[in-house]
Amino acid sequence: MSRCFVTRELPGEAVADPPTAAELRQAVAKVDGLLCTLLDRIDADLLEAAPDLKVIANYAVGSDNIDLAAAAERGIPVGVTPDVLTGATAEIAIALMLSIARRLPEAAAAVRDGGWLRWEPNGWLGVQLTGATVAIVGSGRIGRATGEKAAGLGMEVVHVGRHDDLHAVLATADFVTLHVPYSAATHHLIDGEALAAMKPGAILVNTARGGIVDQVALKRALIAGTLRGAGLDVTDPEPLAPEDPLLEAPNLLVLPHIGSATHQARTAMARLAVDNLMAGLAGRPLPTPAA
Ligand code: DGY
Repeated sequence: MSRCFVTRELPGEAVADPPTAAELRQAVAKVDGLLCTLLDRIDADLLEAAPDLKVIANYAVGSDNIDLAAAAERGIPVGVTPDVLTGATAEIAIALMLSIARRLPEAAAAVRDGGWLRWEPNGWLGVQLTGATVAIVGSGRIGRATGEKAAGLGMEVVHVGRHDDLHAVLATADFVTLHVPYSAATHHLIDGEALAAMKPGAILVNTARGGIVDQVALKRALIAGTLRGAGLDVTDPEPLAPEDPLLEAPNLLVLPHIGSATHQARTAMARLAVDNLMAGLAGRPLPTPAA
Protein backbone atom coordinates (compact mmCIF):
# COMPACT_ATOMS: atom_id res chain seq x y z
CA MET A 1 0.00 0.00 0.00
CA SER A 2 1.28 3.47 -0.89
CA ARG A 3 1.40 6.32 1.61
CA CYS A 4 0.47 9.82 0.46
CA PHE A 5 0.51 13.23 2.05
CA VAL A 6 -2.21 15.68 1.02
CA THR A 7 -1.20 19.15 2.21
CA ARG A 8 -4.77 20.55 2.27
CA GLU A 9 -8.23 19.12 2.47
CA LEU A 10 -9.84 19.72 -0.91
CA PRO A 11 -13.33 21.04 -1.83
CA GLY A 12 -16.20 19.18 -0.34
CA GLU A 13 -14.50 19.08 3.06
CA ALA A 14 -13.52 21.65 5.65
CA VAL A 15 -10.32 23.40 4.62
CA ALA A 16 -7.46 22.81 7.02
CA ASP A 17 -4.53 25.15 7.56
CA PRO A 18 -1.55 24.53 5.27
CA PRO A 19 1.41 22.71 6.81
CA THR A 20 4.44 24.73 7.85
CA ALA A 21 7.67 24.06 5.95
CA ALA A 22 8.88 21.93 8.89
CA GLU A 23 5.66 19.90 8.99
CA LEU A 24 5.85 19.35 5.24
CA ARG A 25 9.46 18.24 5.50
CA GLN A 26 8.59 15.80 8.23
CA ALA A 27 5.57 14.45 6.34
CA VAL A 28 7.36 13.83 3.03
CA ALA A 29 10.01 11.72 4.75
CA LYS A 30 7.55 8.83 4.93
CA VAL A 31 5.42 9.08 1.79
CA ASP A 32 5.28 7.74 -1.77
CA GLY A 33 2.97 10.44 -3.11
CA LEU A 34 2.44 14.13 -2.42
CA LEU A 35 -0.66 16.15 -3.34
CA CYS A 36 0.22 19.78 -2.68
CA THR A 37 -0.98 23.32 -3.40
CA LEU A 38 0.73 26.42 -4.72
CA LEU A 39 1.45 27.41 -1.11
CA ASP A 40 3.86 24.49 -0.68
CA ARG A 41 7.44 25.16 -1.74
CA ILE A 42 8.80 21.94 -3.19
CA ASP A 43 12.50 22.56 -3.74
CA ALA A 44 15.58 20.35 -4.06
CA ASP A 45 16.11 20.47 -0.32
CA LEU A 46 12.60 19.20 0.41
CA LEU A 47 12.98 16.45 -2.21
CA GLU A 48 16.18 15.36 -0.45
CA ALA A 49 14.05 14.72 2.62
CA ALA A 50 11.63 12.52 0.62
CA PRO A 51 13.53 9.34 -0.26
CA ASP A 52 10.45 7.30 -1.31
CA LEU A 53 8.59 10.01 -3.21
CA LYS A 54 7.25 8.72 -6.55
CA VAL A 55 4.89 11.48 -7.65
CA ILE A 56 3.96 15.09 -6.94
CA ALA A 57 0.42 16.18 -7.85
CA ASN A 58 0.08 19.96 -7.67
CA TYR A 59 -3.44 21.27 -7.05
CA ALA A 60 -2.84 24.12 -9.50
CA VAL A 61 -2.10 24.65 -13.17
CA GLY A 62 0.99 26.67 -12.27
CA SER A 63 4.05 24.81 -11.09
CA ASP A 64 6.30 27.69 -10.03
CA ASN A 65 6.18 26.43 -6.43
CA ILE A 66 8.00 23.28 -7.53
CA ASP A 67 11.62 22.88 -8.64
CA LEU A 68 10.80 20.87 -11.76
CA ALA A 69 14.46 20.31 -12.64
CA ALA A 70 15.18 18.85 -9.20
CA ALA A 71 12.11 16.60 -9.45
CA ALA A 72 13.16 15.45 -12.94
CA GLU A 73 16.65 14.69 -11.67
CA ARG A 74 15.12 12.42 -9.07
CA GLY A 75 12.78 10.91 -11.69
CA ILE A 76 9.71 12.17 -9.85
CA PRO A 77 6.87 13.10 -12.24
CA VAL A 78 4.91 16.29 -11.46
CA GLY A 79 1.25 16.69 -12.34
CA VAL A 80 -0.74 19.93 -12.67
CA THR A 81 -4.42 20.75 -13.30
CA PRO A 82 -4.83 22.47 -16.70
CA ASP A 83 -8.05 23.07 -18.67
CA VAL A 84 -10.52 22.64 -15.80
CA LEU A 85 -9.83 26.14 -14.43
CA THR A 86 -9.38 27.93 -17.75
CA GLY A 87 -12.91 29.32 -18.03
CA ALA A 88 -13.09 30.36 -14.37
CA THR A 89 -9.77 32.22 -14.49
CA ALA A 90 -10.59 33.93 -17.79
CA GLU A 91 -13.87 35.10 -16.22
CA ILE A 92 -11.97 36.75 -13.37
CA ALA A 93 -9.68 38.53 -15.86
CA ILE A 94 -12.75 39.91 -17.64
CA ALA A 95 -14.40 40.77 -14.31
CA LEU A 96 -11.33 42.77 -13.26
CA MET A 97 -11.27 44.64 -16.58
CA LEU A 98 -14.95 45.52 -16.22
CA SER A 99 -14.65 46.43 -12.54
CA ILE A 100 -11.85 48.92 -13.09
CA ALA A 101 -13.14 50.27 -16.41
CA ARG A 102 -16.69 50.86 -15.08
CA ARG A 103 -15.57 51.78 -11.52
CA LEU A 104 -17.72 49.11 -9.92
CA PRO A 105 -16.02 49.06 -6.47
CA GLU A 106 -16.40 52.86 -6.06
CA ALA A 107 -19.95 52.92 -7.41
CA ALA A 108 -21.06 50.04 -5.17
CA ALA A 109 -19.39 51.66 -2.14
CA ALA A 110 -21.28 54.91 -2.82
CA VAL A 111 -24.61 53.07 -2.58
CA ARG A 112 -23.69 51.77 0.87
CA ASP A 113 -22.05 54.89 2.29
CA GLY A 114 -24.69 57.40 1.22
CA GLY A 115 -22.67 58.84 -1.66
CA TRP A 116 -25.45 58.03 -4.18
CA LEU A 117 -27.59 61.17 -4.12
CA ARG A 118 -29.32 61.01 -7.52
CA TRP A 119 -28.74 59.88 -11.10
CA GLU A 120 -26.09 62.21 -12.54
CA PRO A 121 -25.15 62.71 -16.19
CA ASN A 122 -21.53 62.66 -15.08
CA GLY A 123 -21.83 60.17 -12.23
CA TRP A 124 -19.17 57.44 -12.09
CA LEU A 125 -18.19 57.75 -15.72
CA GLY A 126 -15.88 55.02 -16.84
CA VAL A 127 -14.65 53.62 -20.12
CA GLN A 128 -16.19 50.77 -22.07
CA LEU A 129 -14.67 47.49 -23.11
CA THR A 130 -16.67 47.43 -26.34
CA GLY A 131 -14.43 48.72 -29.12
CA ALA A 132 -11.32 48.91 -26.89
CA THR A 133 -8.08 47.05 -27.64
CA VAL A 134 -6.85 44.42 -25.21
CA ALA A 135 -3.35 42.98 -25.24
CA ILE A 136 -3.28 39.41 -24.00
CA VAL A 137 0.23 38.71 -22.74
CA GLY A 138 0.81 34.95 -22.87
CA SER A 139 -0.57 32.54 -25.43
CA GLY A 140 -1.52 29.60 -23.22
CA ARG A 141 -5.00 28.25 -22.54
CA ILE A 142 -6.11 30.97 -20.13
CA GLY A 143 -4.80 33.76 -22.35
CA ARG A 144 -6.61 32.32 -25.36
CA ALA A 145 -9.85 31.85 -23.40
CA THR A 146 -9.65 35.43 -22.11
CA GLY A 147 -9.12 36.60 -25.70
CA GLU A 148 -12.24 34.71 -26.83
CA LYS A 149 -14.35 36.24 -24.06
CA ALA A 150 -12.95 39.70 -24.78
CA ALA A 151 -13.75 39.30 -28.48
CA GLY A 152 -17.29 38.31 -27.48
CA LEU A 153 -17.56 41.65 -25.68
CA GLY A 154 -16.60 43.48 -28.87
CA MET A 155 -12.96 44.09 -27.95
CA GLU A 156 -10.11 44.17 -30.44
CA VAL A 157 -7.81 41.37 -29.26
CA VAL A 158 -4.03 41.39 -29.75
CA HIS A 159 -2.10 38.35 -28.54
CA VAL A 160 1.48 38.92 -27.38
CA GLY A 161 3.71 35.86 -27.56
CA ARG A 162 7.22 35.31 -26.26
CA HIS A 163 8.81 36.56 -29.48
CA ASP A 164 6.67 39.66 -29.95
CA ASP A 165 7.75 43.19 -29.05
CA LEU A 166 5.91 43.55 -25.75
CA HIS A 167 6.55 47.27 -25.28
CA ALA A 168 5.37 48.09 -28.81
CA VAL A 169 2.06 46.30 -28.16
CA LEU A 170 1.70 47.88 -24.70
CA ALA A 171 1.78 51.28 -26.35
CA THR A 172 -1.33 50.47 -28.39
CA ALA A 173 -3.55 48.67 -25.88
CA ASP A 174 -6.34 50.12 -23.72
CA PHE A 175 -6.25 47.00 -21.55
CA VAL A 176 -3.35 44.65 -20.81
CA THR A 177 -4.03 41.28 -19.20
CA LEU A 178 -1.25 38.94 -18.06
CA HIS A 179 -1.34 35.18 -18.65
CA VAL A 180 2.29 34.03 -18.64
CA PRO A 181 3.68 31.42 -16.26
CA TYR A 182 5.91 32.80 -13.51
CA SER A 183 9.63 32.07 -13.83
CA ALA A 184 12.94 33.91 -13.63
CA ALA A 185 12.27 35.04 -17.22
CA THR A 186 8.90 36.61 -16.37
CA HIS A 187 9.82 38.06 -12.96
CA HIS A 188 8.87 41.77 -13.13
CA LEU A 189 8.07 41.46 -16.84
CA ILE A 190 5.83 44.44 -16.15
CA ASP A 191 8.40 46.75 -14.58
CA GLY A 192 8.68 50.54 -14.55
CA GLU A 193 9.73 50.62 -18.20
CA ALA A 194 6.87 48.40 -19.33
CA LEU A 195 4.40 50.49 -17.34
CA ALA A 196 5.82 53.65 -18.92
CA ALA A 197 5.40 52.05 -22.35
CA MET A 198 1.68 51.46 -21.73
CA LYS A 199 -0.82 53.77 -23.40
CA PRO A 200 -1.78 56.63 -21.07
CA GLY A 201 -5.04 55.74 -19.34
CA ALA A 202 -4.69 52.00 -19.93
CA ILE A 203 -5.83 49.35 -17.44
CA LEU A 204 -3.60 46.49 -16.24
CA VAL A 205 -4.98 43.13 -15.10
CA ASN A 206 -3.01 40.27 -13.58
CA THR A 207 -4.53 36.86 -12.87
CA ALA A 208 -1.29 34.90 -13.38
CA ARG A 209 1.29 35.36 -10.59
CA GLY A 210 2.10 38.40 -8.47
CA GLY A 211 5.83 38.36 -9.19
CA ILE A 212 5.21 39.20 -12.86
CA VAL A 213 4.45 42.82 -11.90
CA ASP A 214 6.82 45.19 -10.10
CA GLN A 215 4.33 46.39 -7.50
CA VAL A 216 6.46 49.38 -6.43
CA ALA A 217 6.50 50.64 -10.02
CA LEU A 218 2.79 49.89 -10.37
CA LYS A 219 1.94 51.94 -7.29
CA ARG A 220 3.98 54.81 -8.73
CA ALA A 221 2.16 54.62 -12.08
CA LEU A 222 -1.24 54.57 -10.38
CA ILE A 223 -0.39 57.55 -8.18
CA ALA A 224 0.99 59.45 -11.19
CA GLY A 225 -2.23 58.63 -13.04
CA THR A 226 -0.45 57.35 -16.13
CA LEU A 227 -2.57 54.20 -15.78
CA ARG A 228 -6.33 54.44 -15.35
CA GLY A 229 -6.24 51.56 -12.93
CA ALA A 230 -5.21 48.00 -12.19
CA GLY A 231 -6.99 44.82 -11.20
CA LEU A 232 -4.92 42.13 -9.53
CA ASP A 233 -6.06 38.66 -8.54
CA VAL A 234 -2.49 37.79 -7.58
CA THR A 235 0.16 39.67 -5.62
CA ASP A 236 3.63 39.23 -4.24
CA PRO A 237 3.46 38.24 -1.44
CA GLU A 238 0.21 36.43 -0.85
CA PRO A 239 -1.67 37.21 1.19
CA LEU A 240 -1.00 40.92 0.79
CA ALA A 241 -1.02 42.49 4.26
CA PRO A 242 -3.78 45.11 4.72
CA GLU A 243 -1.02 47.62 5.47
CA ASP A 244 0.98 46.81 2.31
CA PRO A 245 1.96 50.10 0.63
CA LEU A 246 0.51 48.92 -2.70
CA LEU A 247 -2.98 49.20 -1.25
CA GLU A 248 -2.52 52.99 -0.84
CA ALA A 249 -2.57 53.31 -4.64
CA PRO A 250 -5.75 54.72 -6.22
CA ASN A 251 -7.88 52.88 -8.78
CA LEU A 252 -6.64 49.51 -7.68
CA LEU A 253 -8.73 46.41 -7.05
CA VAL A 254 -7.00 43.45 -5.42
CA LEU A 255 -8.69 40.07 -5.10
CA PRO A 256 -7.44 37.19 -2.93
CA HIS A 257 -6.27 34.85 -5.75
CA ILE A 258 -9.74 33.57 -6.68
CA GLY A 259 -9.23 32.93 -10.41
CA SER A 260 -10.09 29.24 -10.11
CA ALA A 261 -12.43 29.65 -7.15
CA THR A 262 -15.63 28.15 -8.54
CA HIS A 263 -17.23 24.95 -7.24
CA GLN A 264 -16.88 23.48 -10.72
CA ALA A 265 -13.20 24.31 -11.24
CA ARG A 266 -11.96 23.45 -7.76
CA THR A 267 -13.81 20.11 -7.73
CA ALA A 268 -12.45 19.20 -11.16
CA MET A 269 -8.95 20.27 -10.07
CA ALA A 270 -9.22 17.93 -7.08
CA ARG A 271 -10.25 15.05 -9.33
CA LEU A 272 -7.41 15.72 -11.75
CA ALA A 273 -4.84 16.05 -8.97
CA VAL A 274 -5.96 12.69 -7.54
CA ASP A 275 -5.80 11.10 -11.02
CA ASN A 276 -2.23 12.36 -11.39
CA LEU A 277 -1.36 11.07 -7.93
CA MET A 278 -2.81 7.61 -8.54
CA ALA A 279 -1.14 7.31 -11.96
CA GLY A 280 2.23 8.24 -10.50
CA LEU A 281 1.88 5.74 -7.67
CA ALA A 282 0.99 3.02 -10.17
CA GLY A 283 3.99 3.93 -12.32
CA ARG A 284 1.77 5.07 -15.20
CA PRO A 285 2.27 8.31 -17.18
CA LEU A 286 0.47 11.23 -15.51
CA PRO A 287 -2.71 12.38 -17.31
CA THR A 288 -1.62 16.05 -17.09
CA PRO A 289 2.10 16.42 -16.40
CA ALA A 290 3.73 19.80 -15.79
CA ALA A 291 5.34 21.09 -18.97
C1 DGY B 1 -3.25 27.84 -10.47
O1 DGY B 1 -3.88 26.79 -10.63
O2 DGY B 1 -2.07 27.94 -10.78
C2 DGY B 1 -4.00 29.01 -9.92
O3 DGY B 1 -3.22 30.09 -9.66
C3 DGY B 1 -4.81 28.63 -8.69
O4 DGY B 1 -5.83 27.81 -9.10
